[in-house]
Amino acid sequence: GDGARVPVLVIGTGYGGSVAALRLAQAGVDVHMIEMGMAWDTPGSDGKIFAHTTSPDGRSYWLRTRTKQPLSNFLGFPIDKDIPRYTGILDAEEMGGIIVYQGRGVGGGSLVNGGMAVTPKRENFGAILPSVNADEMYSTYYPRANAGLGVSTIDPAWFDSVDCYQYSRVGRKHAQRSGFPFVFVPGVYDWDYMKQEAAGTVPKSAVAGEILYGNNYGKKSLQKTYIAKAKATGKVTISPLHKVTTVSPASGGGYTVVIEQLNTSGTTTATKSVTADRVFFAAGSVGTSKLLVKLKATGALPQLNGEIGKGWGDNGNVMCGRANHMWDATGKVQSAIPTGGIDNWAAGGAFAEVAPLPTGIETYASFYLSITKNPNRASFSWNAAAGKAELNWQTAWKQPSIDAAKTIFDKINSKEGTIYRTDLFGTYKIWGDHLTYHPLGGAVLNKATDNYGRLHGHPGLYVIDGSLIPGNTSVNPFVTITALAERNIEKIIATDL
Ligand code: FDA
Repeated sequence: GDGARVPVLVIGTGYGGSVAALRLAQAGVDVHMIEMGMAWDTPGSDGKIFAHTTSPDGRSYWLRTRTKQPLSNFLGFPIDKDIPRYTGILDAEEMGGIIVYQGRGVGGGSLVNGGMAVTPKRENFGAILPSVNADEMYSTYYPRANAGLGVSTIDPAWFDSVDCYQYSRVGRKHAQRSGFPFVFVPGVYDWDYMKQEAAGTVPKSAVAGEILYGNNYGKKSLQKTYIAKAKATGKVTISPLHKVTTVSPASGGGYTVVIEQLNTSGTTTATKSVTADRVFFAAGSVGTSKLLVKLKATGALPQLNGEIGKGWGDNGNVMCGRANHMWDATGKVQSAIPTGGIDNWAAGGAFAEVAPLPTGIETYASFYLSITKNPNRASFSWNAAAGKAELNWQTAWKQPSIDAAKTIFDKINSKEGTIYRTDLFGTYKIWGDHLTYHPLGGAVLNKATDNYGRLHGHPGLYVIDGSLIPGNTSVNPFVTITALAERNIEKIIATDL
């Protein structure tokens, strides 16, 4: 409540925040978590907590009156539609030259994401986090993160036979015929549950195509893993629909945190002030960067250094579709959880997930989300006149990503005698180069912070989310975010508390 004093306040309930909360609580510390999004624990009038992918409603978007679907078109026709303005689960945040998709709610990105849980190859780690001891990461913290998240890999025999992964098998066949390695991508979906979905014996989530707006069953979001364990300690409380706006040094030591309580229309209904001995910024790359840039520029945290807001990247995300021949049908029923990727990182700088197009009809399309080695980095800065933090990314900066993805798909198209789909992102537009699902950086480890996430200049303030990672992880990022948080919190508990 207003005026309270807490030992630790965590801003955000995504991967970094959940790791911090669990490990601090296990060390005996009381933790209070602040989350701007909703709790996502109560069914709506249709009996489901989350809306379906193909019928978005107010639950689907963060304070929008119209959907902003990542695939904006189908057969060239726009598919966005009006919805009620509500504190929904997916934020399509328009940051100038890029739309950054993020999860909103208790569980952060784990609520909306594809659950692909990938540990980068050891040989690529030095380029991801150069100041971190890779031996420790691969011997201790990656295994700890994978265990905590409940990561496992699909049963390959089932993959080979089930209808809902026909799209992925077509993706594998085309990759292999062009000489690219196809790799199974581990995930946090409960594969046994998915088998029962496919068999028709339980309510369907992934097999019904649920993704982006939440999975009602089967996906092990943070609510079912780290956050459940954190709550079970009895030492963690969570305030949903509360948004942190300011952190500044308190006169008697510690930090004053100003928090706005929101209603489901996004209106502030109360403003509260809490004092915390320590504050963990875990609001995600964009959330943490925006807060820190504002707090530095407005003088609330004047000692933050010049690295704040820098080193932001999009993990090289770019999407595309290919039109297959009639003999390469990809299936009417497509599991929403991708389970395979095409690895051309070493030769072409691209790792392409074979992604579903869960439209419920046969599209003869193969769809891909590529993660590419894009060297461009943007920075956040404070626009005092507008009173907001801005990002200087430019759409043209996606060109290296397109070039990298083409090293895979130009070759496959030429081998198969096929073409790119031009109807998914507009009319005659091949590349989905307007968005990212994987924002990273803005408070980079060993630059804006020390080598464990302690912010320079203000003892007791920490960063523990994706903003620590300088723009690219070579694969999907949440396992690396979790493993780095596990490493950093262990050090912080041992030396700072
Ligand atoms: P994260 O974004 O998870 O959490 C931050 C939390 O802080 C949010 O809940 C937010 O609401 C809250 N917050 C922000 N500002 C606040 C404030 N001022 N006050 C209070 N709360 C605040 N990755 C992957 O590895 N595999 C995958 O398959 C996918 N797929 C995927 C699909 C889609 C559609 C998206 C949007 C993202 C993915 N990702 C993914 C990316 C992955 O989800 C992402 O990298 C992590 O969630 C980032 O974790 P963090 O802990 O950094 O922040």
